[in-house]
Amino acid sequence: MKDILTAPFMVEMIRTTTNMYAHGWDERNGGNISLLLDEAEVKEYLDMQPIHTLETGFAAPELCGKIFLVTGTGKYFKNVQYAPDVNLGMVRLVENGTRAELLWGFTDGGRFTSEFPAHMMSHVARMKVDPKNRVVMHCHPANLLAMTYVHDLDEKTFTRTLWQMCTECIVVFPDGVNVLPWMLCGTNEIGVATAKKMETARLVVWAQHGIYGAGKDLDETFGLIETAEKAAEIYLKIAHLPLKNTITDEQMHLLEARFGVKAREGYLN
Ligand code: 13P
Ligand code: ZN
Repeated sequence: MKDILTAPFMVEMIRTTTNMYAHGWDERNGGNISLLLDEAEVKEYLDMQPIHTLETGFAAPELCGKIFLVTGTGKYFKNVQYAPDVNLGMVRLVENGTRAELLWGFTDGGRFTSEFPAHMMSHVARMKVDPKNRVVMHCHPANLLAMTYVHDLDEKTFTRTLWQMCTECIVVFPDGVNVLPWMLCGTNEIGVATAKKMETARLVVWAQHGIYGAGKDLDETFGLIETAEKAAEIYLKIAHLPLKNTITDEQMHLLEARFGVKAREGYLN
């Protein structure tokens, strides 16, 4: 059996949480990640014997038998690199997703993130759009969060503002950014609402809280959030100044053609 701490998925997870902390997106226990794993790959490192099982509090039959590496509730991203086996856990969903077997990690008796419903339901939603989707990532980037206090939360308006802030935004997230109003976090309700929003975009802003991103790997999902957060930063730098220039819809269409992407239907003139 190989050392699980050397597994590429583990190394990448540790690097990503460390990097997200360094970016200031994950103060204290803020943020959480779930990464869908390949069972054959996991078997090279683990005997797959469940340590114990936990109730998930929801059903997700589509995910039954699927294995996820996930951050722990109350755990700090900054500490993952020093104690991955305490701050991370590997779980396999069983019994229609109503229970999760702990296969590895959470060695101090911890459990998966309180946002497990939003993560798992978002995986179900994104897999239907893109079978290659493996990552759901949540964090609290300051500029996107700040923007939800001063910008209209209408999804088209919010998306268009972000697209206009950096040339490559429309290329990185042509499906735009969906937005949920403030809701109580850590509940099945916000999970259902987030997953619904994930049907049409890979980014979902939680007003006055943070953002969710989904993608095929950790790097891509990080990059997606990073790009939106950069755009929000530019917005906050210019929002109070007289606007002299912008990226026009005509220029957006040139970007679509040049990069082979299609902007969300009805979002460009
Ligand atoms: P957890 O510590 O349960 O992952 O929660 C952090 C968070 O960001 C809640 O939205
Ligand atoms: Zn949060």
